[in-house]
Amino acid sequence: MVRKGEGVLLEIEDVAYGGLGVAHLDGLVIFVENGIPGQKVQVRIIQQKTDYLTARILQVEQPAPYEVPPRCSHFGICGGCKWQHVDYAKQLEFKRSVVEDSLRRIGGFQDTGVQDALPSPEVFFYRNKMEFSFSDRRWLLSEREQDEKPKDFALGLHVPRRYDKIVDIDACYLQSPESNALLNLVRTFAMTSGRKPWSTTDHTGFWRHLVIREGKSTNQRMVNLVTSGKDEALLKQLSAKILESGIPVTGIVNNINRSKGSTAFGEEEWTVWGNPVIQEKLGNYLFEISANSFFQTNTHQAERLYETVVEFADFTGDEIVYDLYSGTGTISIFISGFVKQVLGIEVIEAAVKDARRNKEINRIKNVEFILGDVKNEMNRVEEVVEVVGHPDVLIVDPPRAGLHPKSVQHILKLSSPKIIYVSCNPTTLARDLAVWKESYHLRQVRPVDMFPHTYHIETVALLERKK
Ligand SMILES: C[S@@+](CC[C@H](N)C(=O)[O-])C[C@H]1O[C@@H](n2cnc3c(N)ncnc32)[C@H](O)[C@@H]1O
Repeated sequence: MVRKGEGVLLEIEDVAYGGLGVAHLDGLVIFVENGIPGQKVQVRIIQQKTDYLTARILQVEQPAPYEVPPRCSHFGICGGCKWQHVDYAKQLEFKRSVVEDSLRRIGGFQDTGVQDALPSPEVFFYRNKMEFSFSDRRWLLSEREQDEKPKDFALGLHVPRRYDKIVDIDACYLQSPESNALLNLVRTFAMTSGRKPWSTTDHTGFWRHLVIREGKSTNQRMVNLVTSGKDEALLKQLSAKILESGIPVTGIVNNINRSKGSTAFGEEEWTVWGNPVIQEKLGNYLFEISANSFFQTNTHQAERLYETVVEFADFTGDEIVYDLYSGTGTISIFISGFVKQVLGIEVIEAAVKDARRNKEINRIKNVEFILGDVKNEMNRVEEVVEVVGHPDVLIVDPPRAGLHPKSVQHILKLSSPKIIYVSCNPTTLARDLAVWKESYHLRQVRPVDMFPHTYHIETVALLERKK
């Protein structure tokens, strides 16, 4: 029996959620970080639990037959694209299999009928938002690089499992060439600004994050600098440099995050230059998105995601729809032309503000938004039903953690004839659907690939109340 710390040779047989390969040895399941089916790998066991082991690859002895050369020079170090070396058709197969496996194992569904994953129209340059971090501890790629760049400055993405270390990124193929040019310009400016990058060890430093957003269908671009304090003169200088460069931008904002917590949100935001929102189109609708609001990151695939919602709901035009976790109101507005009335519920104030503005921009009359926590709003759902009416279709699109157990129960009691669950985590989707299994039929499940080259997968599931 293998134990923690030992090395073994394994053949990866399957794939599990989280970018884990699955292998077996001595009747035990071994989850191999970053392993893909078909690989023969030399691994070290890093964790031992009663019914499974976790291992890390030391060496790939034999690659999988469908491996392709990764495009990015940061592949294997940066935590972003774990599957860039996997042929795209195979990535889609993996994703479908992970959804099916989660529904079967966690949800207890026998006949899942999971459809093929819907491919993304673009597999590179598809993201409309990228978030980079500054750090005083650069992850060194090689001895040679130690000579070329300072060790105490980086602007890029996290090294997996290292919250403190950042790989300095000069080109990310998930964002546009213009956004890469902005990334490099901001790095050069910040390095010579006299201000230090943020240190997660002693919580000092000025530069914290760079967030770039762009409208894929409008070519608008917003640069959001997250800093630990306010330095108007310095930000104005940076803004002048960006404008001089000719890289098309429509707005530059500064979010100030004085807390120790390493999020790219600020408690204060001010506009350094231009427009503090960008516009993006989904279908026939125009959306304004501010720096801190959630918006699906793959614009063109988001349209397909929402079209799937419309297809599954099979609206007649008379429906009252609740859209829980409504963000900037995108689903509510996208479906508004197919139904009688929509009520969106969202907890972030800025997102609700955006949603209400988006409703005005698109001259929509049959959509309302409530600012609130779904858990609390569902707790007083009788009052909501009194005002809006009972939902014929209930759409939920929660964050990765899925639904709060109380919300799962409240939604069950609401007994809406149809539920459409849009999920970005198949394991929490399966957990939540399991609770509704007695009362609802699982009619359709379609994985939609919003995030090529990563193990992440969006899923749309349709449930119909049992008669
Ligand atoms: C995955 S996003 C979906 C947003 C939107 N449906 C879309 O497609 O763009 C989840 C949203 O849920 C919101 N949220 C998170 N927890 C919440 C809660 N407890 N109550 C209400 N909204 C919440 C987040 O702010 C975020 O906007």
